[in-house]
Amino acid sequence: MTSSTRSNSIVEVFEQAASSYDRTGVSYFEPFGTALVGCAGIRPGERVLDIGCGRGAVLFPAAAATGPTGHVTGIDLAPTMVKLTADDAARAGLTQVEVRVGDAQQPSFPLHSFDVVLAGMVVFLLPEPEQALRAYARLLRPTGRLVMSTPGAYDPAFVAAMDALAAHLPVEQPPPAPTAGPFDDEQTITATMAAAGLDVVAISEHRVESRFHDVNHWMRWMWSHGGRALLQHLPADRLDAATDDAAQVLESVRAPEGDLTLTTVGRVTVAVPQPGGPAPAAAR
Ligand SMILES: C[S@@+](CC[C@H](N)C(=O)[O-])C[C@H]1O[C@@H](n2cnc3c(N)ncnc32)[C@H](O)[C@@H]1O
Repeated sequence: MTSSTRSNSIVEVFEQAASSYDRTGVSYFEPFGTALVGCAGIRPGERVLDIGCGRGAVLFPAAAATGPTGHVTGIDLAPTMVKLTADDAARAGLTQVEVRVGDAQQPSFPLHSFDVVLAGMVVFLLPEPEQALRAYARLLRPTGRLVMSTPGAYDPAFVAAMDALAAHLPVEQPPPAPTAGPFDDEQTITATMAAAGLDVVAISEHRVESRFHDVNHWMRWMWSHGGRALLQHLPADRLDAATDDAAQVLESVRAPEGDLTLTTVGRVTVAVPQPGGPAPAAAR
């Protein structure tokens, strides 16, 4: 699979998921988005770019922080994500928000056009994350900052439930590869950022607890985001058995009040352009 077909297939997964993405009554992307914006220290009047904006988990708190005197541009390659988020922004009367189709791998904006570039749970999905970060560094003003979230640690029960589902994939279908790669731990993140012309200022960890009424609720949530990349390859006649196996695993995280409860740790990294700015693309 080439890097551009990988990118296309990921975007297709999110395009299919867009109408239910972050709308299944599960607390996950919203608290991570709020944490990311909290770390960004956005001031009223600032110009902000939100990369891979999805349904606005980062974009809407960012727009609240800039206020009407600032500006937030959200880009995403999934057209339905863009349309639904633009509609939500218009309905909320957020005149400082613009949402458009754009590629997170190579966002096309003039040099130094933003005070803040935000990237919530997206950079690790890109075919060439270091190259993308280098592009973001070029978009920042010299006093600007990049704030990015990446997965830290998944709940062991979540990983086991994914494995239970993956055991039902056809033999010729490899399970989706782990994606954290250049963002595996703080040291790797710092090195990845440095290679992209960015100095890390802070990395913080944020725990989010997600609750599900039962396995069917968990499966609805799984279809609504990147988990869909696995589910879509399960043969229809294996889906019930796969769900039953996941249900057994998830019983281990049933809370006393009855909900299945999964805890995820996400990392938020704040970085600033290196003095003198990133090297031009040709010099790499
Ligand atoms: C996990 S979601 C995160 C969305 C949002 N930032 C949030 O925190 O909820 C990843 C988003 O990135 C988008 N995406 C994936 N690859 C992209 C690319 N190459 N260019 C732009 N958007 C992309 C997907 O369509 C999806 O909306």
